[in-house]
Parts: sequence; C-alpha cells; structure tokens
Amino acid sequence: MKVLVIGSGAREHALVWKLAQSQSTSQLYAAPGNPGMAAYAQCLPIAVNEFDALAGFAEQNQVDLTIVGPEAPLIDGIVDVFRRRGLHIFGPDAAGAALEGSKAFAKEMMTAAGIPTAQHRTFTVHKEAVAYLEEHGAPVVIKADGSAAGKGAIVALDIETARDALRQMMVERVFGTAGDVVVIEDYLQGDEIGATAICNGETYLPLTLTQDHKRALDNDEGLNTGGMGVYTPLPFVNRSQEELIHQQIIAATLKALNERGVNFTGVLYSNVMLTEGGPMVLEHNTRFGDPETQALMLLMRADLLDILGYPTMLSLEPQELWHPGSAISLTLASGGYPGKYRTGLPIKGIEEAERLEGVQVFQAGTALKDGQLVTAGGRVLSVCARGATLREATTRAYEAARLIQFEGVHYRHDIAKRGLRA
Ligand code: AMP
Ligand code: GLY
Repeated sequence: MKVLVIGSGAREHALVWKLAQSQSTSQLYAAPGNPGMAAYAQCLPIAVNEFDALAGFAEQNQVDLTIVGPEAPLIDGIVDVFRRRGLHIFGPDAAGAALEGSKAFAKEMMTAAGIPTAQHRTFTVHKEAVAYLEEHGAPVVIKADGSAAGKGAIVALDIETARDALRQMMVERVFGTAGDVVVIEDYLQGDEIGATAICNGETYLPLTLTQDHKRALDNDEGLNTGGMGVYTPLPFVNRSQEELIHQQIIAATLKALNERGVNFTGVLYSNVMLTEGGPMVLEHNTRFGDPETQALMLLMRADLLDILGYPTMLSLEPQELWHPGSAISLTLASGGYPGKYRTGLPIKGIEEAERLEGVQVFQAGTALKDGQLVTAGGRVLSVCARGATLREATTRAYEAARLIQFEGVHYRHDIAKRGLRA
C-alpha cells in the first residue's frame, strides 16, 4: 500500500516510523514532513492546508491511504474533500472534528448526552460573563471557543486571574475570533490523563492510557506548552476505572455523535480528569495526541496499517496489540519555549542516543541547513524509550536525552514521576 501522512511534527514522525515497519507498506509519503521523516518517507513540499494539492497528489500517485496528524486540516474539512474525490483517508470529517474545533459544541453535546464533564456556561457578551463569574467565584477555568492552538484555556485559581482572562479573550481578543464565544467551567481536581481510541462509527479500539505534562517546568510550574512528555500505560489506573472511562466517555461520545448523524472515524483522544466523583472529560481531541503518539507507537506491537487501514482489525487482544512494559517520550525544547526562542542552532548526538537499547528519537522542530540538522521550532525532539518497566523506560530516555545537545536545550526532569510513585 502507498500511504501519505499529513503533518510535520514528532507525532507524524512516529507514525511514519511505525508505518515503515508494516508488511503492507510499499511507499510512504509525508506532507510536508521533516528531516527525521525523510529517512522513511518521500517528503512533499505541500502544506497541510493545501487540500486540493494533497488530494491531487493522492489521486495521481494512487495513494491507498492518507493519515492526518494535526487538528487544523481535520477541523477545516480535509476528510470531506478527500472523500468527495473517492480517496481513502483516516480521520473524522468536519462534523466529527467539530468536537475538538468547538468547545461550546463539545460541552453542549456532552451535557445533552449525560457524558461526565465539568459544569459550564457559555457566553458571547463580556458583561454577562463577568456577572456570572462574580456570582460563581474562583477557582474556575475560562476557555476561548475554537482551537486556540492549545492556549485557549486559562485555569484561574483566583478571581483576579479570571477577570483578566475574560478581558483578554473577549475585549482585547488575544485569541482573535476564538474569543467570540467563551466557556466558563468549574475547576476539577484529580489526576489528568489521556484516553485514546481508534474509532470506526460506534466500534473502537482503545489504546493504552497516557499522561501528558503540559507545563514547561518541573513540578507543573511555568507556562502551558504543547506537551513536555508522556508515558504509557498508567500504573495508577486499574482495570475497572479504565473500563469506566471507555464506557462512560469513549463509547458514550461515539453513540451521541451517531445520534446526531455523525459517523465518527479516526482517533478520539480525550483529556480526562480522574476526580473523586469518577472520570470527567476536560476536552475532546479528534486526532492523535502529541507527544502521546510517540510513546504509543513505541509500545505498539501490532501493525499500525492493519489498525488504521482495516477497521476489521479492531478486536485485537492486548498481547497482540502491545509490547510488554512501558514507553515514555520526553520533549527536548528550545530555550525560552513556550515563549520566544532562537532557531537554527546545530543539534548533536541523536545517533549516539539511538544506539541505546529501546531508544528512538523523533523530530519535531528541526531543519537541515547546509547538511547540518538544526533547531527550527519550540518543541525540537521527542526522545522516546521503551523498557520492561516504567522505571527502565524512564532511565533509558533520560540517558538518551543527556547525549543530545543544542544550545539552550531544556526538558523536564520529572516525566513519569506520578507513575513511578504508584
Ligand atoms: P483544555 O484546552 O480544555 O485541554 O485545557 C488545558 C488544560 O487546562 C488542561 O490540560 C487542564 O490541565 C486544565 N483544565 C482544563 N479544564 C479544566 C477544569 N475544568 N478543571 C481543572 N483544570 C482544567
Ligand atoms: N498532548 C496534548 C495534545 O496533543 O493536545
């Protein structure tokens, strides 16, 4: 099969790396790809939002399956464009991706379907939002509707921060039109985890649970980022809790979508808070997580193309699906990220790191300059490792990270701490 992967980050690098091991892959393409992916795939100079050019390439080159990494093209309807042209593509159509694209839609649907999520109110008028906030009090979470590149949610532990967030979103409009509609929701406490499922209508294959680390610095300090590290599976979640997450959240969401005429195919990846009152959805995503995917691909034993290309494979047993043990991904970021950072800095040590047992390095913000690999983004690399235990995987990943150098490199030192404590 000829497969095209759309995207340019470490998530897509991990997907391409895994697809390259498939018996059924004859040719891999990535659009636009990155230098890491070029080892397995032909990288195409087509941007993720050039739907006609992408579909045209797939047609002309008889691509059998296209897999979409990032949310933006899904929300903007790339799947609809491909399907209209009779092309096979893995991902939800625009109606399904609205679950991620519109927080207001997601909340409304969850409330109507009885899917556990924080109590919320939706506002379009700043004055009304402030009035509700004054009456409700803090802590609260304030979210700009629409996809604000992961920065649209502000956790306000005090009322001042909350007032500030409303003003920024609704008056100063720092997130642009994403601030037209603002959601104020109750603050939830507990362990925050990720639940990922490969979905085909109401049928789904749950992947192992993950835990991301969104803040830039150790001990969950610093600003929110795209994700600083993930490990999987989670030793502190037992089988019955996991079952509850799948039934009450994944299955219930697919059913609710179906009742609204949305046949959801693709990845449903939900951020879930394990509260004292049970699992509750923080947010739904309709694509693979990043850096979740890097750890998941390392742990996966099964052929990814079978899983994504043939929904009949959805009944795999856990031992067919996974290697035993654990996997972890560490984000190596540019100095200053998620704020301002420099690019074009030489990267050294990837080969040495990959010589370590169980280690794989996926590239995110990298570029080639005169044959030298250099930094080109905030999140630069995902240093991943698999091990027989979470401890082993973690030790391997940190050993590998220490072998990699670029000026200003920073990463968290406490990824998987919660899991190791359990
Ligand atoms: P979101 O963009 O909705 O995923 O929110 C970003 C981050 O804000 C989440 O990963 C959580 O850490 C935090 N968050 C969002 N909603 C809540 C909530 N209701 N209670 C506590 N923390 C939240
Ligand atoms: N790991 C966070 C995300 O992919 O949204």
